[in-house]
Amino acid sequence: MDASAGGSADPADGSAPPPTLFDWEFATDPYPAYAWLREHAPVHRTTLPSGVEAWLVTRYSDARQALADQRLSKNPAHHEGSAHAKGRTGIPGERKAELMTHLLNIDPPDHTRLRRLVSKAFTPRRVAEFTPRVQELTDHLIDQFCEKGEADLIHEFAFPLPIYAICEMLGVPREDQDDFRDWAGMMIRHAGGPRGGVARAVKQIRSYLVELIRRKRDDLGDDLISGLIRASDHGEHLTENEAAAMCFVLLFAGFETTINLIGNGTYALLQNPDQRERLQASLAAGETDLLETGIEELLRYDGPVEMATWRYATEPLTLGGQDIPVGDPVLVVLAAADRDPERFSEPDTLDLARSDNQHLGYGHGIHYCLGAPLARLEGQTALAELLTRLPDLELAEDPSELRWRGGLIMRGLRALPVRFTPS
Ligand code: HEM
Repeated sequence: MDASAGGSADPADGSAPPPTLFDWEFATDPYPAYAWLREHAPVHRTTLPSGVEAWLVTRYSDARQALADQRLSKNPAHHEGSAHAKGRTGIPGERKAELMTHLLNIDPPDHTRLRRLVSKAFTPRRVAEFTPRVQELTDHLIDQFCEKGEADLIHEFAFPLPIYAICEMLGVPREDQDDFRDWAGMMIRHAGGPRGGVARAVKQIRSYLVELIRRKRDDLGDDLISGLIRASDHGEHLTENEAAAMCFVLLFAGFETTINLIGNGTYALLQNPDQRERLQASLAAGETDLLETGIEELLRYDGPVEMATWRYATEPLTLGGQDIPVGDPVLVVLAAADRDPERFSEPDTLDLARSDNQHLGYGHGIHYCLGAPLARLEGQTALAELLTRLPDLELAEDPSELRWRGGLIMRGLRALPVRFTPS
């Protein structure tokens, strides 16, 4: 698809021609195309592969402004009637409304109320208390493949870690966690593809969650679901539907994202041996500073969320000099904004020690990632353990052979084959 389609591009200055968006090459490395857009068409109307027209916002300053702009609604009803609105989730009628009425699809005042309630239960302290368990889960997963000398890090490591972690935190009994692993796998495999699989998985997840919430209500424990049931704000509690939708968004907003943090992060380290050696040396010395700044840098450099979730103009607005009509979807391209040379020095260089790093990888404004403390914990633990336990980890395939999942919102590898000395 021609990036100049839609009329906002101006390649008349004789520079490189407009890039093709959304093809295989773009999925593999979208950054050159984003550099072009940032420079020539920073707020750009284009046709998405689904046929929907949407605006891509690629400069850091515009992206930050758009993420905080309350005239851009998260409620898909503002784009009702279009092919996009009908087809996006593929989850039919009632159940779609029930599970999809979650934080990422609503605006204030409902968003404010629900976010306040969940924040009482999903606290940084709860996450900190969970640290030893994440460590155990990580060790256990590495134990499963470390003697083989080879592994697919997506399948055997990055995929199971976040789903088991959040299941445990929520209080899903151990014997049921493999069901979630299967449902989650189904949702990822079918994302953007045939709809039947997703709809079936969502139906099963909803029945399961409603039943689990009822059971917990009668027997409250220390887990996050019990915390959600207990949480109250001016005497108000979550309804059963709200609690189920909240569990759903906690399960799935933190799932593919964390897989991609581990996958893209490991891949970036393997491609930048000087940075990886520096991190290994600092871990061996028992330091954590470089690990902490390093995870933030990996989020900036090649983060899990390529574009923020959809927003819709509720009134006419001007962004980056472009007039955006009511109802138009706006896609804030976090991956492009986080490589903007106007904001980051040497943006295409991975610098794990980068200190001036206010990246947008977790979003910005009222929808800023609720799970950031858990994501940081999982990302730091996973990468530190991999590099410490498998010190000579290397790619087992030529990088050109690696396949990236096509899709608008997420950026991640389908598989990451590696080899290492068995331990
Ligand atoms: C929101 C990124 C992990 C739960 C977001 C948003 C981003 C993001 C960019 C904002 C989307 C937007 O404004 O359209 C990430 C990344 C992660 C990660 C990069 C991993 C590295 C997690 C985890 C959880 C989680 C582990 C929970 C267990 C949420 C929730 C929201 C959210 C509930 C919606 C917040 C709201 O609308 O108020 N995340 N996320 N995320 N994230 Fe994360």
